[in-house]
Amino acid sequence: MTSTSENSFNPGKGPGSPVGVALLGYGTVGSEVLRLMTEYAGELEHRIGGPLVLKGVAVSDTSKPRAGVAPELLTEDAFALIARDDVDIVVEVIGGIDYARQVVLAALKAGKSVVTANKALVAAHSAELDDAAEASNVDLYYEAAVAAAIPVVGPLRRSLAGDQIQSVMGIVNGTTNFILDAMDSTGANYDDMLAEATRLGYAEADPTADVEGHDAASKAAILASLAFHTRVTIDDVYCEGISSITAGDIDAAKQAGHTIKLLAICEKITDKDGNQAISARVHPTLIPRDHPLASVNKSFNAVFVEAEAAGRLMFYGNGAGGAPTASAVLGDVVGAARNKVHGGRAPGASTYANLPIADFGDTPTRYHVDMEVVDRVGVLAELASLFSDRGISLRTIRQEEVGEHARLIVVTHSALESDLHATVEALKDMPVVKEINSVIRLERD
Ligand code: HSE
Repeated sequence: MTSTSENSFNPGKGPGSPVGVALLGYGTVGSEVLRLMTEYAGELEHRIGGPLVLKGVAVSDTSKPRAGVAPELLTEDAFALIARDDVDIVVEVIGGIDYARQVVLAALKAGKSVVTANKALVAAHSAELDDAAEASNVDLYYEAAVAAAIPVVGPLRRSLAGDQIQSVMGIVNGTTNFILDAMDSTGANYDDMLAEATRLGYAEADPTADVEGHDAASKAAILASLAFHTRVTIDDVYCEGISSITAGDIDAAKQAGHTIKLLAICEKITDKDGNQAISARVHPTLIPRDHPLASVNKSFNAVFVEAEAAGRLMFYGNGAGGAPTASAVLGDVVGAARNKVHGGRAPGASTYANLPIADFGDTPTRYHVDMEVVDRVGVLAELASLFSDRGISLRTIRQEEVGEHARLIVVTHSALESDLHATVEALKDMPVVKEINSVIRLERD
């Protein structure tokens, strides 16, 4: 009888062996993957140690013309394609969750390595997918799921595997970065810049997943899982989008030397009793204009990592688009193909730390509160005492006249989110507070 450990060793097909690839999906990314795979076939063969051979392309409708792919390779039956003995690697670039989950699980269970660009799938079902990959002793790669061409999954999983990561902060959605950057540089309002993002093809016809932060939250779940060796799913990520950010907020941020970015923030936090937990959150965030992430403009993405020994690192580049995403997909295909040829398996997801996920209320944050208050003696002291009653220290207070009222912009030091939130709720009930214009969180320098 064969032992489990013998079963779990992949001896490899041997140098020079062909590696069969099934492509599921032939949209913007799938067609670019095939173009690169075809154009650089010779070089890829050298890098892998055997040729990549396309065995089929699964699409929803084979009657539509598909440039760049031989018609006899097209099929509507993804499951039959996956099951073929000569398919070693399945590339999933369909998107969506339910059907993608079915085909990816079918591939893993059939002993095929999988490369996917599907952040929503990985962020929702990582445990099930990792277990299936582990059970079949195959690879599951998803570099393209976070910030497309920017290598960040690989560095977190391999290059930084010897370090202690303290935080990962990323601009991981190009649409929202385009909108916020355009608001910052032109003074325009949110609706006009969303319309511009749509006109230029950054925003989808339904931009909800981007502007409400859901796309970034999927990426935050993946980044937090990798950084902290803990299973983090999208349900663990606190999420707020950018649709309530006004031109006034951007202007106030500018006057204080800040800019507003939609950040995915993943941190290891330690409470007053020394217990560690993970905070993963997505929300509009004020950052100083000299912070490395502040210079990430247009639709670019960047991921800023702080690690104990490595210090501060920033990964920057194209976070979306057919070719950049295909670059990351093909990099993973090469990695999976090398293992198919030479044997072995890439390390699977590491979740040994199994840290708890912090309640959002227990997360240390900082607030930037923009409000209009009655302009008379004692109001400032009254407001300041509301913060100090909850142990919240104020960092700066800026005041300007607005008609008969005063506009006050208060920036706090770090305090628990629940205390900051309760303080703002109490501010709303104070007769001297006429309007809370906005409350935006702020990250340290
Ligand atoms: N829609 C995303 C963005 C790209 O705007 O960055 C895919 O995650």
